Amino acid sequence: MDEAKLQAFMGQLVGDMGGAAMMANVLLGDELGLYKAMADGQAVSPEQLAERTGCHPRLVREWLNAQAASGYVEHAGGRFRLPEEQALALAVEDSPVYVAGGAVVLASMFLDKDKIAAAMRGDGALSWADHHPCLFSGTERFFRPGYRANLVASWLPAMDGVVPRLEQGAKVADIGCGHGASTIVMAQAYPKSRFHGFDFHAPSIEQAQRRAAAAGVDGQVQFATAGAQDFPGADYDLVCFFDCLHDMGDPVGAARRAHAALKPGGKVLLVEPFANDELDDNLNPVGRLFYAASTCICTPNSLSQDVGLGLGAQAGERRLRHVFMEAGFSGFRRATETPFNLVLEATR
Ligand SMILES: C[S@@+](CC[C@H](N)C(=O)[O-])C[C@H]1O[C@@H](n2cnc3c(N)ncnc32)[C@H](O)[C@@H]1O
Repeated sequence: MDEAKLQAFMGQLVGDMGGAAMMANVLLGDELGLYKAMADGQAVSPEQLAERTGCHPRLVREWLNAQAASGYVEHAGGRFRLPEEQALALAVEDSPVYVAGGAVVLASMFLDKDKIAAAMRGDGALSWADHHPCLFSGTERFFRPGYRANLVASWLPAMDGVVPRLEQGAKVADIGCGHGASTIVMAQAYPKSRFHGFDFHAPSIEQAQRRAAAAGVDGQVQFATAGAQDFPGADYDLVCFFDCLHDMGDPVGAARRAHAALKPGGKVLLVEPFANDELDDNLNPVGRLFYAASTCICTPNSLSQDVGLGLGAQAGERRLRHVFMEAGFSGFRRATETPFNLVLEATR
């Protein structure tokens, strides 16, 4: 036993436990409006923040102490300040780096721990619909900033010939669309195009319909409950899968259905969590986050469906290419990437 290695590992674990405890505190800050009340970058006393948010001053002080110990806020002379960079991540919902929604997804993993343990002891299956509802809202809030920042600005332009079609008026399917965040971003950018969002989770589709109405794009967007292997419609110019293909039991069946539903020369936009092909190349902070979430959410969902391929959230480009080649697509390439996403293009 190497004492120094033990000490180093204990140090790592204390950091990880502090991080996990802080995610509960991030949830509190998000829900109670504590970060938003500090978003002006001015230093506040705990009493001032308590007054602004209608919260108990002693608990607000303790919360601020934890935030300061984590480097989330700065402390000087009993006053606390949320720096602009931290505000972008924790207080500004429209910012491209807003992550508070991610804490809600993490909360679902704790809330569903008993169900996940039962799946691990049993057949591995836990369907999306059987999770705590905070998973559905958390997923929307976690992914939406990335779609707003990247989808129109860089992902669609990185595809071959797709933007001109969208500008002229294209027919688009968004499969596994959840609350429709990606569908609505595209509809707002391309008013001449028509968008069809499908998801097998009926409550998510109902929420997507409400979101489209609130965004004023409900004339241009239709949402319907449908599985990826049998979604309706034909002659699509573009079929999209945003962070959902690896969640499906039968990704090849979903890709085959997309192939059949596309016009000749039509494209699939496949957005998946960033991953390299080999496990050893994913042993990094992003891989750690995605493997952990995949254990609790993505892989059990896949195992709950027909075929139950269990791709996992770190499938990587090589396995994803194989799915689309097996489904009959003529081309497959990496259009672009971010530190968190692979953006892949399949051509019918
Ligand atoms: C991680 S969420 C992503 C949701 C949405 N695309 C987004 O980016 O916000 C995965 C979604 O895939 C959906 N899904 C999983 N398996 C499916 C299937 N076989 N057919 C249709 N939707 C499915 C789930 O209901 C869930 O909404």
